[in-house]
Amino acid sequence: MIQKRILSGMQPTNALHLGNYLGALKNWVDLQNQGDYECFYCVVDLHAITMPYDRDNLKKATREVAAAYIAAGVDPQKSVLFPQSAVPAHSQLMWLLATMAQVGKLNRMTQFKDKAGKNAENAGLGLYAYPVLMAADILIYNATHVPVGEDQKQHLELARDLAATFNTRYDVEHFIQPEPYIMGDTTRVMSLRDGTSKMSKSAESDMTRINLTDDADLIAKKIKKAKTDPQPVPTCTEQFEGRPEAKNLMTIYAALADETMDDVFNKFGGQSFADFKKSMIDVSVAHLEPITTRMNDLMNDVTEIDKILAEGGEKCNAITEPFIDQTMDIMGFWKS
Ligand code: AMP
Ligand code: TRP
Repeated sequence: MIQKRILSGMQPTNALHLGNYLGALKNWVDLQNQGDYECFYCVVDLHAITMPYDRDNLKKATREVAAAYIAAGVDPQKSVLFPQSAVPAHSQLMWLLATMAQVGKLNRMTQFKDKAGKNAENAGLGLYAYPVLMAADILIYNATHVPVGEDQKQHLELARDLAATFNTRYDVEHFIQPEPYIMGDTTRVMSLRDGTSKMSKSAESDMTRINLTDDADLIAKKIKKAKTDPQPVPTCTEQFEGRPEAKNLMTIYAALADETMDDVFNKFGGQSFADFKKSMIDVSVAHLEPITTRMNDLMNDVTEIDKILAEGGEKCNAITEPFIDQTMDIMGFWKS
């Protein structure tokens, strides 16, 4: 039987927010605790340099994302937590796969088109090859399952494709084709100011999102100012119709309080949003404060986080070095 393996990662760009937590991190922790999978959680710092970035902040951002993983419940005793740049085999495999990745397919990648914008001629090769590096991240561990959001499915498809191309070209069963892991009750978190757009790190106003680094006062302020409508709190799903902000706040409440939406309807349906928001603030602070505190502790003395990252990197190197050797051997490279 093949060992089931999870590999996922996030970029150390800006501070993580509630969408990253409810939409991804919380599920990673569930997968880890479920015990069926070996879990590898990566901070994809090599991907972070495909867009303009701040060299002086990269190290801190990498530690901060790792701290968020741990504070959310990723346990370095159970999962392997590591920075992508600490494992050279990711970049090595990327080159090998790049020789098999078709330009036609890369041209169709919607994320590249979005990120390159109008000026695609000036985009870096790294941004263009981003999906190939992501494929290498996954295939180098022979991960069987990759928890990703909708926006990453196209990239995962390329990883599957490259695994199959390699196996066919060299007539081997070397790479496993990874499956997307569709996270059961993943919560899609929307902006606090516009219930029709996703909560995002790139939104200009910080008031649109709750960051995992926000303190209790700031969380309270953002929830108080969150957009609602003049009607009372909905009593059933049908009343969400045309009210995306109401739906979003109640969805966040249910996820953070670990209650069903029916519980939330029963508790708050028909009340004013002002009252609902008071409870929402309490629940949000109660759930997020321990996470923020743990993150701050880890960031105030980076010895522990650095040790965890270094150990994670070593574990990965022990797995990936022989695997890259095998891969190159299959491809016919010289080796003494
Ligand atoms: P990103 O912040 O776009 O790099 O995404 C990192 C991870 O968080 C991915 O798995 C996304 O699917 C997830 N994610 C980002 N924003 C949200 C959101 N607003 N709601 C739910 N999941 C999200
Ligand atoms: N591209 C992913 C994102 O933006 C991040 C990522 C890089 C990733 N390598 C990965 C996700 C490997 C899953 C598996 O969210």
